[in-house]
Amino acid sequence: MIILKSREEIEKIRESGRLAARALDLAAEHLKPGLTTGQMDKLIHDFIMDHGAIPATLGYKGYPASSCISINEVVVHGIPGPRVINDGDLVKIDVTTILDGFYGDTARTYCVGNVSPEARKLAEATEKSMYLGIGEIKSGARLGDIGAAIQEFIEPQGFSIVRDFVGHGVGREFHEEPSVAHFGRRGSGLRLKTGMVITVEPMINQGVYNIKVLKDGWTAVTTDGKLSSQFEHTVAVTPDGYDILTLSN
Ligand code: MF3
Ligand code: CO
Ligand code: CO
Repeated sequence: MIILKSREEIEKIRESGRLAARALDLAAEHLKPGLTTGQMDKLIHDFIMDHGAIPATLGYKGYPASSCISINEVVVHGIPGPRVINDGDLVKIDVTTILDGFYGDTARTYCVGNVSPEARKLAEATEKSMYLGIGEIKSGARLGDIGAAIQEFIEPQGFSIVRDFVGHGVGREFHEEPSVAHFGRRGSGLRLKTGMVITVEPMINQGVYNIKVLKDGWTAVTTDGKLSSQFEHTVAVTPDGYDILTLSN
């Protein structure tokens, strides 16, 4: 079942989404080589709590932290802890807040210090692909249009699109229907409607798209050990386009 949101509900999601985005801004200001992912997570945790919200990931299906911080070959769901951030790392931070009962979900990739040109190219292509996918969104468009736009841009560059994780509906729950694949065929799939709120969160790999989950049950890594990047926005469908709800201003 897909839950359509009222204008009031969309404004609540925006308030939550703005806070999540500001937590990422804050993380970006502090991010530097030598810090641990656990220190970054504490900063994010305290910021969210200080603003009257709850970090959605903390305790979610047993997940133990307030953000996901995934470095280099870690695709998603990296658990913050003692790992030290190094010069040249691609650091993906994913923050989800619950504010007044509504979820806002957003992620960015940060290039720390002197990253390789290839790594930077991957991160830039990933961000661009997210906006190309979002650009397809409007009432009447199809979910397949979003995936196709991402795929048409990413695959000719020799990068690959992760299959095992997808975007999702979001609102009063963390993960609602529908699933939003980041690959697909134009004109196929569910028809978008005004009031739907979904995430677009492509995970783009330098090598193969295959991932495996480590023994901790969360950390997803590329099977070939090559780099991965991700960006995510929470987006509302409008009659003639889209409304990004995870902007920081
Ligand atoms: N924020 C992630 C998403 O984009 C979900 C993280 S769930 C966690 O859907 F438990 F791993 F934190
Ligand atoms: Co998400
Ligand atoms: Co997320």
